[in-house]
Amino acid sequence: MIISNANLVDWRGERKGDLCIEDGIISKTGGGKVINAAGLYALPAFVDLHTHLRTPGLTHKETAASGARAALRGGYTTLNAMANTRPVCSNTEIAREAVTQADGICDVYQAISATKDFDGKTVAHLDALDISLNEEKQYIKSISEDGYGIASGGVFLEVLHRADKLGMPLLVHAEDAALSAVDMYAAEDLETIRDLYLVDLYCKKYGAGNLKVHFCHVSTEFSMNAIIDAKRRGLPVTLEVTPHHIALNDSTDFRVNPPLRRESDRMALINSILDGQIDAIATDHAPHTAQDKLNGAPGLVGLETAFSVCYTTLCRQNNLPLSKLSELMSRNPARLLGINKGTLDIGMAGDVVLVNLEREITVDSSKFASKGRNTPFDGHSYFGEVVMTIYGGDVL
Ligand code: DOR
Ligand code: ZN
Repeated sequence: MIISNANLVDWRGERKGDLCIEDGIISKTGGGKVINAAGLYALPAFVDLHTHLRTPGLTHKETAASGARAALRGGYTTLNAMANTRPVCSNTEIAREAVTQADGICDVYQAISATKDFDGKTVAHLDALDISLNEEKQYIKSISEDGYGIASGGVFLEVLHRADKLGMPLLVHAEDAALSAVDMYAAEDLETIRDLYLVDLYCKKYGAGNLKVHFCHVSTEFSMNAIIDAKRRGLPVTLEVTPHHIALNDSTDFRVNPPLRRESDRMALINSILDGQIDAIATDHAPHTAQDKLNGAPGLVGLETAFSVCYTTLCRQNNLPLSKLSELMSRNPARLLGINKGTLDIGMAGDVVLVNLEREITVDSSKFASKGRNTPFDGHSYFGEVVMTIYGGDVL
């Protein structure tokens, strides 16, 4: 395949030229189908570090297949699915379900829970994980208790040992559940500084080794600054923010965890993106049925709106270069997962998204490929339409 006449953008910057994909890989030369992409921008397809696919067990909310199709609509070809499924994803057998169900639609990796069945104490299932086996390495790229914090500091340290040994990033949902009912700022902020303290302690005692600790959906200025400060001090930590926390504040009445925050938090997140301090944007795509939403389930579907929301909020409104957005949505997430994606370099996966930056779209959740309709963006208009997603050289 040859994509011709596009503006090619990845984290390095922008250039004009043809992009060739051969045998599913970006290559020097190519033949076959020619896509005339005049007037469009071609970026490496997006990589989502944080998706809830609800498979197995909660497939009335989403299936791995419907989630994967939603991904393609949004320009994503890689998803990292969270472990808060039923049963909880605590072994390879369960991990296999979402991965194989999405097979042929897009790439899915499945996070393994930090504690067995989210029991808050058992980590033996991580010792049993044998990533020298090809299958486990293929399916599982991260450890995460997402949906919950790890209440015990001692257990958190035990998990750090395993993450270090496995060389897999630990994706942290920083929330002290005991504080959530009292104050949602305290819940995130105190757990974040406790976790950072323990990462620091771990590194001093044992050395950083292969440890990678990644903070998910950071939403407060305080937590964000604490993590950035820890990074400056050399701790092996990274952080992501979500499209909804940078586009919306608490004047929007929509339940999500962590919650939509004050305007000052939103602006602090944006300013740190502009300063290059944030590592990734991840959707926290969390589909729920209408009934579950009425009953108070937190979360929103984000795969199909992420690019437009981020492009408009960051690039149009705050002058972030598109190459920086590409770094946050493709290159850095791919690097954290250790996969051969996220740039337009020769030899990388032939996963490309074509976008029309001048087209304005109006979000219509009734047209989503996701089973979830729960979005605070319904009826909102954004610039930046995803025109086409190419997965391994195939147009989808
Ligand atoms: O809003 C949220 N929804 N936050 C989470 O941490 C979990 C997620 C879900 O699974 O619904
Ligand atoms: Zn979470």
